[in-house]
Amino acid sequence: MDGLDAGIAEVRGWLAAARGVAVLTGAGVSAESRIPTFRTSPEELDGFVDDDEDGGAWDSMKALWARFDPATLATPEAYRRDPAMVSRWYDWRRVMCLRAEPNPGHLALAALQRAVEGRGGRFGLITQNVDGLHQRAGSTGVIELHGSIHAWRGIESGRAAAFGEGPIGEYPPTVPGSDEIARPGVVWFGEMLPDAAVRSAAAVTDEADVFLTIGTSAEVYPAAGFIGRARDAGAKTVEVNPEATAASREVDVVLRGAGGEVMPKLVSRAV
Ligand code: OAD
Repeated sequence: MDGLDAGIAEVRGWLAAARGVAVLTGAGVSAESRIPTFRTSPEELDGFVDDDEDGGAWDSMKALWARFDPATLATPEAYRRDPAMVSRWYDWRRVMCLRAEPNPGHLALAALQRAVEGRGGRFGLITQNVDGLHQRAGSTGVIELHGSIHAWRGIESGRAAAFGEGPIGEYPPTVPGSDEIARPGVVWFGEMLPDAAVRSAAAVTDEADVFLTIGTSAEVYPAAGFIGRARDAGAKTVEVNPEATAASREVDVVLRGAGGEVMPKLVSRAV
């Protein structure tokens, strides 16, 4: 049995005995659903995106992603400065997310929740992702620390703005039936995380016997802080990631592999 298999066997035992399980996910869990992470290189990006939508416009969106700079794309100032470009980029990602399918990693996390809750345990899934794939895989009560790319709202009134499956086509978009500009319902840098989400994330973290961090570079706070919080609360901590991260040295076990490969092995034959 190699290191990864031994690690998986050890963590399976922890999960089978756990009364409380909490999970923190990042963009890496959606990489196998063909949604690029924030650290996807320009070369890798071509493997993710099919440019079947009005050609050039989407090429420019890819270029923006390839050099993702939060300050240019993910701040209120960026939106004020160029609402058309920023809203088009978020709409491009929104359509990509709608076209994506949950992968085995998402499905395994939903199965883990059913197994833990089915035996009376407590389960909490905290995600930094805004793509909605955990919910589409069957996870419930998902704690969206960074909001949702599907929840657009009026920039003044906060009124919900629902858009269809295809590109909105008008940038910046307006709340249907009004001329109020709409923004994506994601948390931008410099904005506070949703209070309720932070409280829920802290509660499930504090109750966890096992805390899994999957597919995140663990570089953005306060999300990344839940890993250390779990460890300090006495949980066994596990990282699932094909690469080392800022958290690799602080967790108990590192499972160096892709979420879609490792998670089904952790959860097969319901723990
Ligand atoms: P990153 O792009 O920073 O990190 C993605 C992580 O996923 C990396 O550590 C990769 O090694 C890992 N990874 C890649 N493929 C994987 C796979 N198949 N299975 C498991 N892991 C894989 O994304 P996040 O950590 O989510 O914030 O980024 C955190 C935040 O920074 C995002 O929520 C976003 C960004 O700025 C906001 O927009 C507010």
